[in-house]
Amino acid sequence: MVKKILALFMAGVMFVCCFCLNTSAADLADYSMTDAQWAEYWDENKDNFSQMQLYVGADESELNFCWHSKKSGDIPKVRIGISENMEVYSEFEGTYKNHGDYQANYVTASGFEEDSVYYYSFAVGDGEFSEPEMYRTLKSDSFKALYISDVQAGIDDNGDYATYNATCWNKVLTTALNNNYDISFILNCGDMTNSGESNLEWAATMAPKALRNLPTTATYGNHDRKGDTYKYFVNLPNANKALSTTPDGDEYYFRYGDVLFINLCTTNYNVFDEYNFVEKAVSENPDAKWRVVMFHHDVYGPGHHAGDNDTKLLSAVYSAICDKFDIDVCLTGHEHYYGRSYFMYDDKVVDMDYTQHKAVDPEGTLYFTASSAGGRNRMYDEPFSYEWLCFEYMSEELTYSTIEFDEDTFSLNTYDLEGNVIDYYTIEKTSSDFNEFDTDDGLLNTNAIDRLLRNFTGEYYVIFEALYNVFDIVKSVIASLIS
Ligand SMILES: [Fe+2]
Repeated sequence: MVKKILALFMAGVMFVCCFCLNTSAADLADYSMTDAQWAEYWDENKDNFSQMQLYVGADESELNFCWHSKKSGDIPKVRIGISENMEVYSEFEGTYKNHGDYQANYVTASGFEEDSVYYYSFAVGDGEFSEPEMYRTLKSDSFKALYISDVQAGIDDNGDYATYNATCWNKVLTTALNNNYDISFILNCGDMTNSGESNLEWAATMAPKALRNLPTTATYGNHDRKGDTYKYFVNLPNANKALSTTPDGDEYYFRYGDVLFINLCTTNYNVFDEYNFVEKAVSENPDAKWRVVMFHHDVYGPGHHAGDNDTKLLSAVYSAICDKFDIDVCLTGHEHYYGRSYFMYDDKVVDMDYTQHKAVDPEGTLYFTASSAGGRNRMYDEPFSYEWLCFEYMSEELTYSTIEFDEDTFSLNTYDLEGNVIDYYTIEKTSSDFNEFDTDDGLLNTNAIDRLLRNFTGEYYVIFEALYNVFDIVKSVIASLIS
């Protein structure tokens, strides 16, 4: 026993020392496959929902792991080493939840340095560990992420479990990585699966080989909400369920360099949870230079969902939240149709020059809607051309976006799989100050209710507007009489 403790201690010391050596980062592998290679790989893995999925940690020094194994009651373990032979490693233990005949395992590893190469291996039962896989880190003061949405893996028309969605998603991911060797992680805006109730859908969402080496985020979409598999397949940082008053609440946040990413759950009907969570995340990260909010529903999107009652409600509430907390950028999905809004503030287009694809210290929030990375893009006879939309791209083609943060700039570039640039936009910030907000205020003290009224009454809103004006006149007459 003493020997074992000593060995673990030595391994720990060597591990820390080796971390200090800060080995230089390697490129990810080339994950390209021919159609035949992919077909063979997919055939072998389409039922495999026990693949390892890496998730972002609370910051760049952490990494979250999530995988399924046969139910055993064993404590999940992950080893992190600095060479492929795993002679020196540090071991991290986690927790698990039983899931049918399986257990979902959750482990968080920490201590990762920037610009370094690591290997991980996880317990697979009977004291055995998996073959090592590489994980590399890059810099966090300037970084690039892949932004996609709606893999929405589900049964194909021919009854296959998600072959088409998995194939499209793999193409998007490998193309993006081949053209952007420096992507550090994936921002996925949800509908991870279609029915939310089949493990096989997750086998498809997790199928691309690159996902063994590249962490992702997850977002709880309306399709994920249809079942209960989501919670067994994600391991997300700072997920404060204590704030949630409904079982759907699944908000989380993380830091990467100067950027605070806040992921919200737009299927949580108690929107006060989401408001409170943003306040908590922002208050705990006063030094973040950028605030990015992610959620599934496209509150200023390009397609037919803008007419849905849930979108009308969500756009009133979430635009008020973005205004209140001075959110720079909002990433969404749901529409299966790419779009970029004008800068929005107080539910109105911010008046400025939009011809340059660049803004310096803009007022308001820029909202993006990603297309479907699972090949489910929607086509309409005509574009919707909503008043809040600066750019839209209706196409069945697969697209993806990269997001880059440098010291003072945020840049988003959207490409098709041929490498053509579809859209691009840059925000430059000369100051890291945000508008002050009052923590005594609540959601009801934003003008969300008024926006709600406007969204649901449409052209009849003029009646309420007139009543407001009359009310204002009456108020001022009373005030002058009293004074
Ligand atoms: Fe959706």
